[in-house]
Amino acid sequence: MKKVYLDYAATTPVDKRAVRAMIPYFAEKFGNTMSLHFFGQESKLALENSRQILADSINADLNEIIFTSSATESNNLALKGIAFGNKNKGNHIIISSIEHPCIVESAKSLKKQGFEITELPVDKYGMVNPEDVEKAITEKTILVSIIHASNEIGTVEPIEEIGKICKEKGVYFHTDASQSFGKIPIDVNKMNVDLLTASSHKIYGPKGAGLLYIRDGVKIEPLLHGGGQENGLRSSTINLAAIVGFAKAAEICEKEMKKETPRLTKLRDKLIRSLLKIEGCKLNGHPKKRLSNNVNVWFSFVEGESLVMQLDLHGISCSTGSACSSIKLEPSPVLLAIGLKPQEAHGSLRISLGRQTTQKEINYLLKVLPKIIKKIRAISPFKNNYEYKE
Ligand SMILES: Cc1ncc(COP(=O)(O)O)c(C=O)c1O
Repeated sequence: MKKVYLDYAATTPVDKRAVRAMIPYFAEKFGNTMSLHFFGQESKLALENSRQILADSINADLNEIIFTSSATESNNLALKGIAFGNKNKGNHIIISSIEHPCIVESAKSLKKQGFEITELPVDKYGMVNPEDVEKAITEKTILVSIIHASNEIGTVEPIEEIGKICKEKGVYFHTDASQSFGKIPIDVNKMNVDLLTASSHKIYGPKGAGLLYIRDGVKIEPLLHGGGQENGLRSSTINLAAIVGFAKAAEICEKEMKKETPRLTKLRDKLIRSLLKIEGCKLNGHPKKRLSNNVNVWFSFVEGESLVMQLDLHGISCSTGSACSSIKLEPSPVLLAIGLKPQEAHGSLRISLGRQTTQKEINYLLKVLPKIIKKIRAISPFKNNYEYKE
């Protein structure tokens, strides 16, 4: 059976060019970047080259990039590091209601430690209103953290405007760009951000590498203490092969973005148009301001998990929501935040496209999907007690 991978928002295959770049850093150039001898210095050079590539890709300075193991770690460092480092200024943090669980859970853990958290609502497309951010900022606010583009519904937030407000108010601004980095050009200065998260495995790099951009002068406390790597902000022996792969993957995305974004946008829009022709299908997220590779729809009288399993039986890999929340069997908080009822959220499907996605694959999905939906609806327990309204 042919396999069609349509879950690029969960993770991506490592680009072969990134694999080739990484290979020498396992057995040949294996030195510890902290060692003073030849092997150490050879590794240190590769580390700083990678840092330069990634810094350049977001218009940052070399010393403003901190390597971590993942976006989860970067987001934890951003929230907790700013909270612990700025206790003397205030204890209030603002996030949105469509953040990734690693932001939500970090905020919850800070709440237990006495910090105040405001979770801003979003509109029906998942957009944060910059005016809401302005109104929510108080004298005690130390950080605003708003996702750049939603991992579930693909909506791209007005980061530049929110950043401008935070700058004027003297509040640190962090954005989780895990899904947008490599797909949308990022300029930390234009976007007015003080901290930014990116992850390697979302951009055809290896798992095990992430970064946190920290603007020069931002007060932040480390979470990992030890040998003082990464400017004392993230002790741990550097995972050099993964970082080299991350930088190579970012370089490739940057080079290919001009061609790849319109290609994916075209595929995405064609797919959305075809899906909306299926009875009882609605789009989740913004029709235009969305990631080029994200499609998220809901089907009336359909249970998302059954849909994903049935598609899998036909060799098609999609997701019900984010990779992290899809195992919980609870409606996605992001879909509830945009106003979906729990049944509607349960009937949602995320199809995320990528570098290897072809029109042929989309055609295959469109051939299989209506039949599966019909089959699921025929046995739906919701059908009799839930009224579908246009
Ligand atoms: C928006 C967003 N933030 C954070 C993460 C966590 O990324 P990582 O797997 O690198 O920890 C993800 C991955 O699902 C994501 O999509």
